[in-house]
Amino acid sequence: ATEPTNLKSEQLGQFRDDAGGRQMTTNTGLKINDDQNSLKAGDRGPSLLEDFILREKITHFDHERIPERVVHARGSGAHGVFKLYENQAAVTKALFLNDTETETPVFVRFSTVAGSRGSTDLARDVRGFAVRFYTQEGNFDLVGNNMPVFFIQDAIKFPDLIHAVKPEPDNEIPQAASAHDTFWDFISLMPESAHMVMWAMSDRALPRSYRMMEGFGVHTFRFVNAEGVASFVKFHWKPLLGVHAVAWDEAQNISGKDPDFHRRDLWDAIESGNFPEWELGVQIVPEEDEFKFDFDLLDSTKIIPEELVPVQRIGKMTLNRNPDNFFAETEQVAFHLGHIVPGIDFTNDPLLQGRLFSYTDTQLLRLGGPNFQQIPINRPVVPVHNNQRDGFSRQNIDAGKTSYSPNSLNNNSPEQVKAEQGGYVTFPERIEASKIRARSKSFRDHFSQARLFFHSQSDPEKNHIVDALSFELGKVKTIAIRERMLGILSLIDKGLAAEVAYALGLHVPQVLETPVNKSIPADANVEDYEPVQV
Ligand code: HEM
Repeated sequence: ATEPTNLKSEQLGQFRDDAGGRQMTTNTGLKINDDQNSLKAGDRGPSLLEDFILREKITHFDHERIPERVVHARGSGAHGVFKLYENQAAVTKALFLNDTETETPVFVRFSTVAGSRGSTDLARDVRGFAVRFYTQEGNFDLVGNNMPVFFIQDAIKFPDLIHAVKPEPDNEIPQAASAHDTFWDFISLMPESAHMVMWAMSDRALPRSYRMMEGFGVHTFRFVNAEGVASFVKFHWKPLLGVHAVAWDEAQNISGKDPDFHRRDLWDAIESGNFPEWELGVQIVPEEDEFKFDFDLLDSTKIIPEELVPVQRIGKMTLNRNPDNFFAETEQVAFHLGHIVPGIDFTNDPLLQGRLFSYTDTQLLRLGGPNFQQIPINRPVVPVHNNQRDGFSRQNIDAGKTSYSPNSLNNNSPEQVKAEQGGYVTFPERIEASKIRARSKSFRDHFSQARLFFHSQSDPEKNHIVDALSFELGKVKTIAIRERMLGILSLIDKGLAAEVAYALGLHVPQVLETPVNKSIPADANVEDYEPVQV
């Protein structure tokens, strides 16, 4: 592989003739003389199998659909730029966070999680907030949500969570909504979801506009500077328009009248020059402070309260250009938090670790094989050279005899790059541990931050949470699930549980010990689970 980025169109450039302008052609360049009628035997048919123009056109149409994303199927994208305020070299060597002059191009996709591609924008749901930075060191994707925590602590529970939230398998009901038995059954059996459920029942789940949402990287990531010193980092996006929501009855109304409400709002804002802006924030925790908190930094159901570690705003993202083509860009973009650059690294958060596998795996199916990084929206702005070859829909024409390393036949073959020259080196974290299938004891407090969140809300916001829970649980047919969920709510806040119970015409059951986290094996050490004081 010498020059793997050579495209056939470039190779044959010398022979190209674009003089035809907009003359209609087949995919092989044959000019089409009649696009209105198929080839027939006589005036009134039958149509002839020979009609390669008809066959090409219909075959292509028949193959237009690709699978929608297994989650976050409905979304809207936009292009923009990111500009750094201040050099962050003290904490990270990532070039795009060291250079205040350069504007880094970005592509962003906002999404709902549960609904299918055609579902309403204003469903009560988490919103995806995925940002790709096309940096001079390769693509860096910050694949976040508009809520800072997640439902589960370990990626092995993700398929269960999504099976519970998606429409039920027998009748495919309900579309894009969490108000049904399987969702609340799962949630009520998974106390670790308590914190996220409070966010999902809050106004955050009904954003007024994509332009008015915060974004969060959720996991704790790692920054590494040029000296190899690491710190922990949480990423935030702060919208300059502020955070705003609609009320639930407005959401229901809008969903009926304009299911494209958020998509249209984003498109129109950008078309009219009202470019949405967010500041990128970071919370930095020095490595030596890893165990200073009463929660685990590796637990994605926890935030780092901003009172403990303030968010520093380090740069600004402006979305200033709508995509030219929804399918080519918004649909085919393949985000992945494994798309990383030197100076940024992962942590051992078990949710993050599972995601590192999931995205590429699903994209291999969704985008039809191993060459989806060559789709224009996925190509980095820097050259790509390696020994990979072949596969479905390969776009590059890799010239030359060799595609292996080491190799002595080709002095142009791709070479690995030293750390000093920007080669990616994983942070050499020291690990000394037994191999076990377990959940850390440090992950077991499921209610303190759920309570913290509820108490941080204003009275009208608290009422919205009560109303949301009453509406949602009111749709649950199985009374035992409603009651189990009331038990969970009572561990968050007794007043909250009492109000929801009143709305449902039920009593709050007394919960005498920590509800069993069904995702923890029955033979786990019982000392790991302390009784809850009620
Ligand atoms: C898609 C965020 C957890 C699997 C997405 C997208 C976002 C996102 C924003 C949409 C990307 C796009 O616009 O194309 C998150 C966040 C998580 C989380 C913030 C937790 C902190 C997980 C976990 C898994 C997972 C634990 C699996 C183990 C997927 C898959 C897709 C997806 C398979 C579809 C990707 C595609 O088809 O291109 N996620 N996710 N996610 N997520 Fe996650």
